[in-house]
Order: sequence, then structure tokens, then C-alpha cells
Amino acid sequence: MFETINKHVFKELNILRVFIEEASREFNVREVARLIKIAPATASKELKKFANLGILTSRKERRHDFYKANSENELFKDLRSFYHARKIKPAPFLEAPAKRIEFTVAEAIKEKKSDTKEWALTGVTGFDDLLDKGFPRGTSSLLCGGPGTGKTIMGLQICNYAANKGEKCLYMTFEESPERLKKHMKDFGFNVEELEKKGLLVLQKVNPFDITRQVTAMLERAKGELLIDIKPLIFPKGFTPDRVIIDSLTAISSAFYGKEENYRIYIEQLFNLLEESNVTSFLVSERTYGLNRLTTAGVEEFLADGVIILYNVQRGTVRESAIEILKIRGAKFEKKVVAMKITDQGIVVYPEQEVFGQVGGG
Ligand SMILES: Nc1ncnc2c1ncn2[C@@H]1O[C@H](COP(=O)(O)OP(=O)(O)O)[C@@H](O)[C@H]1O
Ligand SMILES: [Mg+2]
Repeated sequence: MFETINKHVFKELNILRVFIEEASREFNVREVARLIKIAPATASKELKKFANLGILTSRKERRHDFYKANSENELFKDLRSFYHARKIKPAPFLEAPAKRIEFTVAEAIKEKKSDTKEWALTGVTGFDDLLDKGFPRGTSSLLCGGPGTGKTIMGLQICNYAANKGEKCLYMTFEESPERLKKHMKDFGFNVEELEKKGLLVLQKVNPFDITRQVTAMLERAKGELLIDIKPLIFPKGFTPDRVIIDSLTAISSAFYGKEENYRIYIEQLFNLLEESNVTSFLVSERTYGLNRLTTAGVEEFLADGVIILYNVQRGTVRESAIEILKIRGAKFEKKVVAMKITDQGIVVYPEQEVFGQVGGG
């Protein structure tokens, strides 16, 4: 695994080293090709790619392309540090930074198309390729699926990605303990502790019955007024998140058993609050879907801006995972059911691998 990643980074560094070593100098394509001993056509293609990413600046003069380091570019700075670190420290040091840079290069291509102020990506490998620009900021999407389909893992992955991008993330867990989730994240190689220390990630355990009690009390005090302020029940004091994961709505709804009207009011207020606060949220909903989706929609599905469904489908004797975006209000996306896999690094989605079926889900 790391070998291929390193190879990938080294290929890029091999070309970029020319620009790193002499950051103030301009080179034309032929010069670069000669210096690093590759074909001019290959050099031209690679240099264009770097220029598109903003790593290099380019200029045309009399049919010749000239390239120069873009020393202000974050990606260039990252690659430069990595290059220098690599020159000083050999092997074992490599793994982590190499992985990070590979991640950055792949992401940069996607993010160039997308204004991250207005659009939020998930960072789930392959999943973002189904999106045109991302989820509009401030929208709430459901992560639906039966037990064990990967909803929690996907939620953690989204937090890890967003927090590493500097967004403040809140993961509200109603079932699993924060310790267990942390262990999960560490197993996937996520830097949980660092993110917590930086104040970018809060894993918060909530007892769903506390919510029921408080909402019921609020509604009694409000005497039929439906506009209750649930903000203190959601955001920890002094922490206004950019992204929220709620795991799960099902746990909250179960706690409201027998008080369905209160649940409906709570959910409406929750969606309002998230929208007003411009929080991009993903709310887990535990429901089993078949690929023919016979389940009737709940109140959440009508209120949510987006719906993502995770499937566990049986084909003969084998179980396979699949994922589908059902809707995202105000955004374009690919409407198809595609294969996914839970791996040691989290969920990986295969956007080109469509799953068709009349098969029942699990
Ligand atoms: N490293 C891993 N490799 C493969 N599968 C894994 C790994 N870690 C967890 N899983 C699988 O992920 C599933 C649990 O995912 P989870 O997100 O907790 O499901 P959900 O929240 O939808 O109930 C289990 O089926 C488990 O077997
Ligand atoms: Mg779960």
C-alpha cells in the first residue's frame, strides 16, 4: 500500500524538485524534460497538471510554455517540506507524510472545482465523485441504512476529513461511547486526539431520554407554543460547529415513544437550528432499505435536504455493500446505486461500479 503511495509522490517530486531547488527560476518544457530525463510530451502533460493545481505558474511566449514555482501555493509548500524532509530523513519517517500528500493532491483536484465556502465535501474516497460540487453548506442530510451498513463509520470519516480541513466538528453519539468511537477512528488511522486538542472535534455522548425530558418540559412551559429553543440541547457551550453528525435520529425517536408529536416538533426545530447556524449536518437514520426501496418515508425524509442510503445487499450467498444518493436539495449529483466497501481505512466508494438489483436489502 505505502509503496504505491510513495511511488506516486516520488513521481511528482521527481518533476517538482527542479522547481523546488530553484524556486525563482523559470523553466521551459524542454529544459525540464532534459533535466529529469523524461519525454517532452510527458513533461508537458505533467507540468500542465501542476499549473492547473496552482503548484506552478505558467506563461506562454512565442509558442513556448514556461513554468515557475508558485511559492505561495499551499500544496507547493507541502510538497517542498516533504521533499526537504525526505532528503534529510530516510525510510520510516515517510509513511505518514507521504499518505497526507497523496491525499492532498487528489483532493486539490476536486476542490479546485468546488468553492469550499459554499460547498461541503465528505472526504469519503470515491463518494465525492458522485457529487457535482458537494453538499450546499447549511444543509442537513440523512445517512440511512440498516444495522452494520457503515453509517457510523461514514459519519466519523466525514468528521475526520472536515476537522483536518479546519472545520469545527461535533459528533453527537446516542448509542456508542465516545471512547469506542475514538478507538474506531484510531483504527482507521485518524488523528482524533490531535483534532480534539485543537478544538476541531468534539465527540459528545448524549442520553436520548435527557432530550425527551427537556423537550417535554420546554413544551409544557411554552404552553402550546411550538417555537422552543433547542440550541442549548444541541451545541456544547461555547462551541459553534461547522459540521454536525447526529448518530442517530432513531435513538432519539425511540426515546420519544408515545410522544410522537413532541418528536416531530423537536425534529423540525433541529432542522431549523442547523440551517440557521449554517451547519452542514449528516443525521444517521437506522432503517433497512431494499434496493427497490419499499420503506415508507418518515418525517425526517421530508424535512431533510439530502438523503444518502447505504445498502447491504445479498446476491446468492454473498453480501455486498452499496450506496446511493437519493436527493440533495440545491445540488447536482449522480443518480445511481454504486458499490462500496468498508476497509481498514474506512469506507471506499466505487463510483463507476453500478449495482443493479431487484434484490432485497438487509
Ligand atoms: N476495518 C474494517 N474492515 C472491514 N469492515 C469493518 C472494519 N471495521 C468495521 N467494519 C464493519 O463495519 C460494520 C459496522 O459499521 P458501522 O458504521 O458501525 O455500522 P452502522 O453504524 O451502520 O450500524 C460492521 O459490519 C463491521 O463488520
Ligand atoms: Mg452505528
